[in-house]
Amino acid sequence: MRLGLGRWKLKIAADAPASKETVPDPRRFKVPYCFGERGRTHPVRARLAGVSWVDGAGEFPPRRRFHFDGARPRTLNGLNALWSCPQNHAGPEFTVLPNQLDPSAILQTAFSFWSSKVLLTAVEFGVFTKLAGRRLTGAELGAELNLHPRAIADFFDALVAMKFLDREGDGPQSKYFNTPEGALFLDQNSPRYVGGILVMLNARLFKFWHDLPEALRTGKPQNEIKHGQKGMFEELYEELPRLEQFLSAMTGLSRINFEAFAGKFDFSPYKSLCDVGGATGLLCIEAAKKHPHLRCTSFDLPAVAPIATKHIAAAGLTGRVNTVSGDFFKDPLPRADVITMGMILHDWNLEKKMHLIRAAYDALPPGGALVAIEALIDDARRENVQGLLMSLNMLIEFGDAFDYTSADFRKWCGEVGFKRFEVIHLAGPSSAAVAYK
Ligand SMILES: C[S@@+](CC[C@H](N)C(=O)[O-])C[C@H]1O[C@@H](n2cnc3c(N)ncnc32)[C@H](O)[C@@H]1O
Repeated sequence: MRLGLGRWKLKIAADAPASKETVPDPRRFKVPYCFGERGRTHPVRARLAGVSWVDGAGEFPPRRRFHFDGARPRTLNGLNALWSCPQNHAGPEFTVLPNQLDPSAILQTAFSFWSSKVLLTAVEFGVFTKLAGRRLTGAELGAELNLHPRAIADFFDALVAMKFLDREGDGPQSKYFNTPEGALFLDQNSPRYVGGILVMLNARLFKFWHDLPEALRTGKPQNEIKHGQKGMFEELYEELPRLEQFLSAMTGLSRINFEAFAGKFDFSPYKSLCDVGGATGLLCIEAAKKHPHLRCTSFDLPAVAPIATKHIAAAGLTGRVNTVSGDFFKDPLPRADVITMGMILHDWNLEKKMHLIRAAYDALPPGGALVAIEALIDDARRENVQGLLMSLNMLIEFGDAFDYTSADFRKWCGEVGFKRFEVIHLAGPSSAAVAYK
C-alpha cells in the first residue's frame, strides 16, 4: 500500500554520535518522489557515500523528517516498511527494512473516526475562525464556543496533539492559537478556506457512512434519497442552504486541484474552455486568472448560475468568464477547444459516463481536449486509497456511480473516437486524465 507522493527532506539527527559507523554531521538532503503512508512512522535505512548503513525511522508529512541514531537498528512504532525511493538521486541511498508484523496500522485506522470527528467538529464550531489572529486560553475559547468545562482541555489539547492547533505554555493559563495551516485553510474568512468539504463531511457523509454495510449488501444509495424518490442533485438543490453547503464543499475539495491544473496544462494552443458541471465557476476562474487569452464558460444546472455569477464577479472576471445553464443529459454542451469535467464522470453509471464523453467529443474541434479531474484510481487498483474510498462514497451517494482508473478513461474515450491520452498529476491523490480528439 502506498499512499503519499511527495518530495521528502532527509535530516540526519543532530544528536547522532559521530563515528565511522554513523553519519558524521547533521545534514539535509532532498529526496525526490518517495512514497509513504501518511502520518505513520516507517523503519528506514539509509547511507551516505562512504558511510555504512544506518537505521532509523521516517514519518510522512507533517514532519517530513527521518532520524538516524547510529548503526544500531532502531524502529519507532514501526509499521512495516511500505515505501521505497528511486536509487538514481544524488542524495543518500535508501533501502526498505524487512517486514515486521505490527498491529499499529490496524489500530490507527480503526480509531481514525475519533480524530476525524474531533477535527470536523472543530470546523463546525468555528474554532479556527474564532482564533484568527488571536491567542486565547482554553476557558476563553471554550466560553466563546459555549463548551462545557469538562470538555475544554481534552478537545483543544487533542487538536494540539493532532497538530491542527498550537499552544503557548502548559496548564490553564496557556494560550491556544492557529497553526499556519489552520489559519490558511480552516479560517472561514481565509481566501484559501477548504473547510466547506469538512462541514459537508460532518453534516451529511459522517452519518451516511454509518450505513456502509447496507450499501455493500444492497448496492443502493444511503443518503437523503434513501427514503425519497428524487435524484441526488434534485434533492440537494431543493433548499438554497443545502445547495450552498454542497457547492462550498466542492470548492474545498477542488481548489488545489484546479490551481494545479491551471498551472500545469498547456493552454497555449487553445482559445476557449468550457467547464462542465462548473459549480461556483472555480476552475474557469483559476484558468482565466493564469491565462489571459482564454474565454471561459462554466456550464451547470440553472439553480447554480446565480451563485457562480457572484463568485466570478468577486474574482473580477465578469466578461472573461460567463455562465451557461443547462442539463448535460438533455442539452448539447457549449462548444469549446477544451472541455473540463471536475468530479463529474464519477457521479454516474457507465451508460451516463459514456453519454457525457460523447457529448464532449461532439462539442470539441479536432485537436480539442477533454479533461477529467478526479482522484483517479491507479490502474492496478492497489494504491490510491482516496480514489477507492471516493468510489465507495459514490456507492453511498448514488448507488451505481463509481470512480475509475486512467486505463478505464482511455478505453471509454478511445471507443468514442479520441486519439491521444495523457495523465497529469495534480495535488495529493488527484490527477487530470486528458483525451485529445
Ligand atoms: C460533484 S459536483 C462537481 C463540481 C465541480 N466540477 C468540482 O469538481 O468541484 C457536480 C456538479 O455537476 C452539476 N450537475 C449535476 N447534474 C447536472 C446536470 N444534469 N447538468 C449540468 N450540471 C449538472 C452539479 O450542479 C455540480 O455542480
